[in-house]
Amino acid sequence: MYCLQPFLPNHYKEFVAMDISEAMLEYAKNNINLPNTRFVECDVGSKDIDDEFIEKFDHIFSFYCIHMIENISQAFKNLYNMLKPGGQMFLTVMEYSLADVAFHKLSKIPRWEKYGKQTTVSPFYYSESPKEEYIKLLQDAGFKHYVLETESIDFELGGEDVWQKLCIAINPLLPKISAEELEDYKLDYLNQLRKSRSFSFNNNNSRITTHFKMFIIVANKI
Ligand SMILES: C[S@@+](CC[C@H](N)C(=O)[O-])C[C@H]1O[C@@H](n2cnc3c(N)ncnc32)[C@H](O)[C@@H]1O
Repeated sequence: MYCLQPFLPNHYKEFVAMDISEAMLEYAKNNINLPNTRFVECDVGSKDIDDEFIEKFDHIFSFYCIHMIENISQAFKNLYNMLKPGGQMFLTVMEYSLADVAFHKLSKIPRWEKYGKQTTVSPFYYSESPKEEYIKLLQDAGFKHYVLETESIDFELGGEDVWQKLCIAINPLLPKISAEELEDYKLDYLNQLRKSRSFSFNNNNSRITTHFKMFIIVANKI
């Protein structure tokens, strides 16, 4: 949210920060100090978006989130409906999640297949063209004016410790793994990620870089 601050007008009526996670909202409340901000727990892919948010917003911003939403087509419809006519949204969406390959591979190992993958890999992991899928989502939601650009990102994360924390944080399956199996699962999961093309490692793992493609979407509701 801080990265938005320089771009916000001096006076605005309200800034609404939405997230599905109570813990994330609590963290944001305690660490972010933007004027006129309200924190709202909300599943952006829900079929029951509160009426108060329909046609409410002049601008919607979302960074690194939409590809995590299971009901992604509903999410795009909600974004469209939440914008006022004349409003604009700006999204960054990852083509694939960094851990998709690991989730896919682990789901083929008999010991781990029981924990599933369908709700874990990002929506278009099995699509030949995620970009075309996002364009279709925009069109189906009602957007007629939009731009979608692709950017390749190489981002240096730091060392082994930071890398492991990131990998653990992006795995929503962990709470479902039994206590007896948790350490073995984590080991297998990290090993799969070590082999994946999402990351590259220097000799002693003190410099780990992540690689991914991102879609940058700007869309106007007319
Ligand atoms: C990778 S974080 C990005 C957070 C923030 N935008 C940033 O750039 O630092 C993704 C966020 O999306 C939230 N999220 C995932 N699914 C969601 C959903 N269905 N509705 C709302 N938020 C969701 C997660 O709780 C998490 O806080």
